[in-house]
Parts: sequence; C-alpha cells; structure tokens
Amino acid sequence: MQDKVTFALAKGRLAEKSVDILEQCGIDCRRILEPSRKLVMSDASGKFEFIFVKPSDVPIYVEHGVADVGVVGKDTLMEEDRDVYELIDLGFAKCRLCLAGYKDFDMSKSRNLIKVATKYVNIAKDFFDGRGQNVEIIPLHGSIELGPIVGLSDIILDIVESGKTLQENNLCALEEIVNCSARLIINKVSLKTKADVIKPLVKKISDIINNKEN
Ligand code: PRP
Repeated sequence: MQDKVTFALAKGRLAEKSVDILEQCGIDCRRILEPSRKLVMSDASGKFEFIFVKPSDVPIYVEHGVADVGVVGKDTLMEEDRDVYELIDLGFAKCRLCLAGYKDFDMSKSRNLIKVATKYVNIAKDFFDGRGQNVEIIPLHGSIELGPIVGLSDIILDIVESGKTLQENNLCALEEIVNCSARLIINKVSLKTKADVIKPLVKKISDIINNKEN
C-alpha cells in the first residue's frame, strides 16, 4: 500500500491554487476547499492528507516531517529559514517585498535611527545588516501600513501585491527587495522515504508549471 503523503496548506488563495494544480495531477481533492472547520482532510482516494495551518507555520510542519509537502510564499520561506527542500516556483501568489513609506521620505538623508515596522523581522535584519545600516525594527503582525501613518515607524518592510493598500493610504514603494511567489517545499527525509510517490508528483507539477509558462 502507498504511504500516505501529507500536505501542509494555508487556507485561502494559496490552497485554492494548490488544489487546481493537484487536480491536474489527478488528485481528486477539490472537496478540501468546501467551507469547514476541519483541520485534517483527505483526497477522494485517501492516499493524500491535507492539514490546514497558518501560512508562517507551513515550513515548520514540513521541516518537522509532520507534513511531507507544503505550499508557501517565498517571503514566508525566507523569513522562517527552515531546513526544507524548495523544489518548485509555482508561479502564483506573485508579490514584491518592498520598503515603503511616504514618497518624500529619504532614507539616506535621515539623521535619526530609522524605524522600520514589519512582520518580516529576520528579513529586515538581514537586509539592513547586509547594508551595514543600523535601524530599529518594530515587529507587527498585521496592518503594517499603519506604521508611518500613525508615526510608529518611518517606513515599513512588507509585501506589495496589487499596490492598492499602499495607494489607498498615500504611501508608495521606496525600494524593492525581492520578487516572491508560491513555492513547493518538501521534507528532506520524505523525499527519500516516500520517493515513489513524491518524485513523480514533483515531476508532474513541474511539467504543469512549465507548460503554463511556455
Ligand atoms: C498584505 C500585506 C499588505 C497587503 C498588500 O496584508 O501585509 O498589507 O497584503 O497587498 P496589496 O498590495 O494587494 O494591497 P494582508 O492582506 O495579508 O493583511 P494583514 O495586514 O493583516 O497582514
């Protein structure tokens, strides 16, 4: 009998797009998107299991092997820096990690220690350390754009997808750090022990993504 393969997914758009791809791979799993408070679900065959976790926890479940496979944004993956294989750029959930603030804020001219509000504390630390720039990082968990508006911070480091949130709050992207998109991640042990299921699946997903690009 095939070993059960467990996916860690974050509810919402990432899960919806992931299901689209898995269905194309022949995994009958659309029912996991039906409204429910269930945290563990299976595909129709019972060979694949899905656990629903917070986006930032996806790499943690995969690193610990509780989930064999996960779908997570590159931004979260960079922030969490977990010991997992990042195998495929799935090409959806595209966004940019940016420094943002009021358009006239000039980082190079600020004489005070710049305050940066963000939920990406590790990325911010690495970014400014890499530049040799000392800043104060203010950790927030949401509504990051409020930082400059209420005077909590000078700028923010956050993802920009459509740009609407910045625009509606009279802010703008000051500098782009990196482009992000959803990634398929795999537990390092599972890739060996469940190779008979995971490797063909990775190949199928990769073919689907490549066909879309061409
Ligand atoms: C994210 C991000 C920005 C917004 C960017 O927030 O932190 O606030 O989306 O998207 P946009 O460029 O399309 O406007 P999210 O919606 O996840 O909510 P949060 O503020 O609670 O983190």
